[in-house]
Amino acid sequence: MTLTLTSPLDMHLHLRDGEMLQTVAPLTAQHFSGAIIMPNLLPPIVTKEALLAYRERILSTLPDTNISSFTPLMTLFFRPDYSREFLEEIHPDLAAIKLYPAGITTNSEGGLSGFDVEELSPVLTAMGDLGIPLCIHGETNGFVMDREAEFVPVYEKLAAAFPDLKIIMEHITTAASVAALDRFDNLYATITLHHLLITLDDVAGGMLQPHLFCKPIAKRYEDREALLQVALNAHPKVMFGSDSAPHPQDAKECPGCAAGVFTAPIALQALAALFDKYDKLDNLQAFVNTNACCIYGITPPRTTVTLKKQPFTVPVKYGEVVPMFAGQEIGWSITTKF
Ligand code: NCD
Ligand code: ZN
Repeated sequence: MTLTLTSPLDMHLHLRDGEMLQTVAPLTAQHFSGAIIMPNLLPPIVTKEALLAYRERILSTLPDTNISSFTPLMTLFFRPDYSREFLEEIHPDLAAIKLYPAGITTNSEGGLSGFDVEELSPVLTAMGDLGIPLCIHGETNGFVMDREAEFVPVYEKLAAAFPDLKIIMEHITTAASVAALDRFDNLYATITLHHLLITLDDVAGGMLQPHLFCKPIAKRYEDREALLQVALNAHPKVMFGSDSAPHPQDAKECPGCAAGVFTAPIALQALAALFDKYDKLDNLQAFVNTNACCIYGITPPRTTVTLKKQPFTVPVKYGEVVPMFAGQEIGWSITTKF
């Protein structure tokens, strides 16, 4: 059995910089035709110069064959004082702006500490007018299992106050976020591979699994079920965003384990296996491409990726990074990208 996907997209990806970028960017470009590139570098991407230079560094890691078949969709790190003039100028090079609450995850120290509608009005109104989506890491600093659900009222407040602004709830992990999707026309979501597959039991229910530790932490069975329902049934407001977040092995296997699951090179194979398991392969194209193209209004390079129901053994490491399913077999493999 084979499956052909057209122009698969990863709508939430961490590529890092330097040596790590060299390792991971070509792996994504080998399979995907575009990806939303997260701006949480040190320092974060907050200027046009930094954004364009980062895009060039990404492209410079790719083999010639992938330069025209992969588009890095660039983002800025949200700052409340971005002016309309600045946004107008950067708009052609910008796919979205990513908002982090201060200190909530890796490299988010410069994030936002309050969500006052009036204070945010100039920048969010300008983004809505220009059609620049706002991607949000939606967690409070409350109890770790409740952080995302506690943030839902913030999503709703912003969605109601800025009806022209497209708000993407990034890497949702709870039934509460899924329920919010249908309450506002302008709320959308990305869902990762790992949150469709695991619960907190897989992370900490037995021996601690550092390579499955991420923000937001995987939640309960009923949460995973709610995510599966919308992903497998091609809900038009959800998109695949891997949140593939590579950290070197020694930053994961240590006290103070860094948050992030590395899935980029195995994501499409594992998604095919998952959608196949539920007899929903016909809906995978919507999850990995069509919905994102509609929501973001983008036309990525046209590529086709053919997957085959043939086991693929996941490498134990890519450079210094241990992927999800390291050393294990996934029932589907990738044969070609053209
Ligand atoms: C991400 C990272 O390492 O940059 N980590 C993670 O656990 N997902 C940041 C993020 O998306 O929260
Ligand atoms: Zn992320």
